[in-house]
Amino acid sequence: MARFIDELKRTHHCGELRASDEGATAVLFGWVCSYRDHGGCVFIDLRDREGITQLVFDPELAGHGDQPRAAHDGARALRNEWVIGIRGVVKSRGANKNPKLPTGDIEVHAVELSVFNKSETPPFEIADSIDTGEEKRLEYRYLDLRRAPLQKTLRVRHRINQVTRNYFDAKGFLELETPVMVKYTPGGARNFLVPSRLHAGKFYALAESPQLFKQLYMVAGFDKYFQLVKCFRDEDLRLDRQPEFTQIDVEMSFVNQDDVFRVMEGLVFRIWSEVLGVDLKTLYPSGRFPRMPFAESMDKYGNDKPDLRFALPHVDLTDAVIEHGGGGVSFWKSIADKFTSGEYRRDLPQEIVKALRVPAEIAGKLSRAEIDKLEDFVKGMGAKGLARAKVDAEGNWVQSPLAKMIGPELRAAINARVEAKDGDFIFFQFGRESVVQTVMANLRIHLAKKLGLIPESGHGGLWNFLWVVDPPLFEYDEDRKTWAAAHHAFTRPHDDCVDLLETDPGKVLCWRYDLVLNGFEIGGGSIRLHDPAVQAKVFRALGISDDDARSKFGFLLDALKYGAPPHGGIAVGMDRLTMLLSGAESIRDVIPFPKTQRGTDLMTDAPNPVSPAQLAELKIRVVEPQS
Ligand code: AMO
Repeated sequence: MARFIDELKRTHHCGELRASDEGATAVLFGWVCSYRDHGGCVFIDLRDREGITQLVFDPELAGHGDQPRAAHDGARALRNEWVIGIRGVVKSRGANKNPKLPTGDIEVHAVELSVFNKSETPPFEIADSIDTGEEKRLEYRYLDLRRAPLQKTLRVRHRINQVTRNYFDAKGFLELETPVMVKYTPGGARNFLVPSRLHAGKFYALAESPQLFKQLYMVAGFDKYFQLVKCFRDEDLRLDRQPEFTQIDVEMSFVNQDDVFRVMEGLVFRIWSEVLGVDLKTLYPSGRFPRMPFAESMDKYGNDKPDLRFALPHVDLTDAVIEHGGGGVSFWKSIADKFTSGEYRRDLPQEIVKALRVPAEIAGKLSRAEIDKLEDFVKGMGAKGLARAKVDAEGNWVQSPLAKMIGPELRAAINARVEAKDGDFIFFQFGRESVVQTVMANLRIHLAKKLGLIPESGHGGLWNFLWVVDPPLFEYDEDRKTWAAAHHAFTRPHDDCVDLLETDPGKVLCWRYDLVLNGFEIGGGSIRLHDPAVQAKVFRALGISDDDARSKFGFLLDALKYGAPPHGGIAVGMDRLTMLLSGAESIRDVIPFPKTQRGTDLMTDAPNPVSPAQLAELKIRVVEPQS
């Protein structure tokens, strides 16, 4: 072994040798990834992170004395995943070239072999596509990561990080760190807590984002900040959420919303060009991404992250239903009655009626059975059912539970609003606004997949970026019947809305924005509130007293008193961005060591119990969960 590594240094990676290297001496290190003993010669595929090279162990290799025979004898013992080093001669493969491999023109005839380490038989094959369950792969993540697709994904991550750093550095942004262990502040996502040994009974929180600290950098005069930063959130996990994830976090002084957009658009263009080789100018010749007001997004697509690779917009029918007193449909009448009796405020729809039209040209792709199954799909999200109607040439509704109830005027009004034609399907959803919006938003995506308008996963080669802008500052908490900050209490309202803070909080729009790609929120940020007078009004609208505000956010409020510049920023979800860019199906596929959907690490077995002594030191007593 001493001769290899100490004396014999690696000359090439396993993906490097070409026909032009014929005759050269090569020293390669790597893992055995296939073994064939053809009587006279042993053939090995040797793999490292750059590729695969075929090795030939020929005992009769002339001109090297006894060494090839010894190497051949050693090679007969090799098995998959053993780690070896070889010295050999590069030769042409002649007629046996392998066009699938970049190194397929050559093979290396081994003269010397050293086995650095043996391997037990791995629990699954280290191959590009395997059908081993994710749990097993996560348990042996270091083996999973040896597979080429994951190696490729992590290299994409590396590229994105480098491009991001270069981009911001060139633009004068400073890469500055912020603490991970911070004071717990309410609002936003649920925090993970870290007990303090020195201050028994007190806790740090793991930062859900560097939000307050990056604002303090602006107060401190650093002007432009960025950071590739780990954030921690104790949330329910989904395919695009992890408890520990990475943000490309940015903050700037003396900027407005458009300035932030320009900087981030430049970054996205650069990443797509340098990492993917895609010039987004062909899709966005102005270099700018389109914008859509939040209200329009909710109205047409049911959420604030619409997938615009396809149409299928929603149509809100609440007004029409109220106007026609429900039009003979009993559930609709009860909604209409609540508005006309004044039980519901007109400016605050608590129950709504929405429709989605599937045009006849594509509706044919759905079988009757598939349409029936849509009902189960929506019920899985808390809907009571999915009313539907097929429209005939006269505008009548057929195959519909509503057909017998609906009066001709409301039917005609609805047909006109959804622009129904012969053979179209209309799907309806009505009830609590939050449920209707969620169900209809998910139904839209589900239908698009069923109708082949977008692929089941991946991007389908389409990149639909969108800024969703001008959301309300507050959202109505239907359960508590009060206003709550829709994002956080430090977002700047539009100047022309400041007076509404006291009179009509629901109408206050703010400088918050989300960057959406193909139906995923990949970033979000805002222009911050730096004016203490307006800040006080916002707290008042939220019912937060001065004392409350001080105890929760005292250090930020203090800082804002000492000459805070106007500032704003954004954070991009780096893992989500990588997931979408690389067409991965889950965020777990782009994170080297992810947690499962249940927040566990199957490889290290975290979280795990700790000893009574450790708990005693922290003055913590665990209450056993009741079974
Ligand atoms: P926000 O909470 O919108 O904003 O987060 C910014 C982006 O981070 C990503 N993200 C996540 N990715 C993976 N797993 C998660 N659990 C997760 N949560 C969020 C999303 C999201 O768009 N401090 C503000 C930013 C600002 O105002 O400047 C913030 O954190 O892609």
